[in-house]
Amino acid sequence: MELRLAVAGIGNNIAALIQGKYFYQAFEKTRREGEALPGIKREIIGGVRPYDFNVCACFDVHPGKIGTDVSQAIFCPPNCYPDLRVNVPHQGVSVVEGLTLAGGELQGMEQVIRELRRTRPDVLLYSLPTGLQWAADGYSLCCLEAGVSFVNCTPEIVARNPERMAAFQRKKLALLGDDLASHIGASVVHSALLELILKRGLDLVRSYQINIGGNSDFENLFVNGKSKAASKKNAIAHLTGKALDQVEIIPSGGFVSQLKDEKVAMISIEGRGWAGTPFTIDLKLKVQDSSNAAGVIIDLIRFAAASMRDGIDPYAEADSLLKSPPKVAQFAHTQSHSGPNSNGSKPSVCTAPTGQ
Ligand SMILES: NC(=O)c1ccc[n+]([C@@H]2O[C@H](COP(=O)([O-])OP(=O)(O)OC[C@H]3O[C@@H](n4cnc5c(N)ncnc54)[C@H](O)[C@@H]3O)[C@@H](O)[C@H]2O)c1
Repeated sequence: MELRLAVAGIGNNIAALIQGKYFYQAFEKTRREGEALPGIKREIIGGVRPYDFNVCACFDVHPGKIGTDVSQAIFCPPNCYPDLRVNVPHQGVSVVEGLTLAGGELQGMEQVIRELRRTRPDVLLYSLPTGLQWAADGYSLCCLEAGVSFVNCTPEIVARNPERMAAFQRKKLALLGDDLASHIGASVVHSALLELILKRGLDLVRSYQINIGGNSDFENLFVNGKSKAASKKNAIAHLTGKALDQVEIIPSGGFVSQLKDEKVAMISIEGRGWAGTPFTIDLKLKVQDSSNAAGVIIDLIRFAAASMRDGIDPYAEADSLLKSPPKVAQFAHTQSHSGPNSNGSKPSVCTAPTGQ
């Protein structure tokens, strides 16, 4: 089954996502029986495999990206995600100028809505630099108008806005966010260690997490990281089930250009165990930053599309993939859904990888 995807912000996340599509498509051709797709937890969601999405609309404001085919735009600097040496064919989809803010006024809404109506995507993936609340509001309103589900990769408040969520629910559209809990990112690793410490009955004295990287996300977060810092704190509380005041988080401790799309996270934990004796954990995590995003985006867009087609509750499924999700009980999606499975039974949307 095809998933039609619109994208706002053709940055490194999208370079990873689109190259990944062709990586998996090629992998499938030589796949041995019982072999798993590497890096994929859910092989099929709502009938859609990880390479079954097609980008049908793209928005950006970078002059080097506007007007170019998306297959070229993903390689336009400052994008610096590595070239995976897969064949990304011409997509026949040009990047259209997105929303801008001029003199406090949002510009371009009509063009974005028109393009969404023309191309009829199932889902729009919002993947702009962190800190642009006006843009997150603008694109989500365009989606409401055009009848398109919305996935928010950023810490801007969209899914946690109760009025916005209610408006999406009234239109039977999915709204997933806010912010990605990266595949093997600092938040999930840090949370897992903290959870372990609490579970083992040890005392947490203090802990910090500091991240550095060389892509434009880190350059932006270095000066514009307020909403990301709050979202990362939310992630620790969400994933460990406890707000931990002893934890300090620096989303971008520096922009190190030579790292390009690699991210380095330093995690330090100090605690006490038996008879008050101390222990420390110092951990360094080095990852391909945008692969980490794509590995989660691929499930979020499929959950959003499946909720439209199959009437599933996307929040129950997507909750652990988000740093700052809304409270599930507050926004029980299934109750307002008129899909074929809205009779209270929980449809099965995922198929486990054949090799696992
Ligand atoms: N990499 C990860 O693991 C991860 C995890 C969680 C969240 N995120 C978030 O995902 C978002 C995207 O990350 P990225 O690395 O792809 O960023 P990026 O900086 O590489 O790309 C952002 C793109 O948005 C474009 N843009 C800027 N303003 C725009 C506008 N008004 N309309 C349309 N496009 C516009 C830029 O030109 C650029 O092409 C960031 O907010 C980041 O914090 C990333």
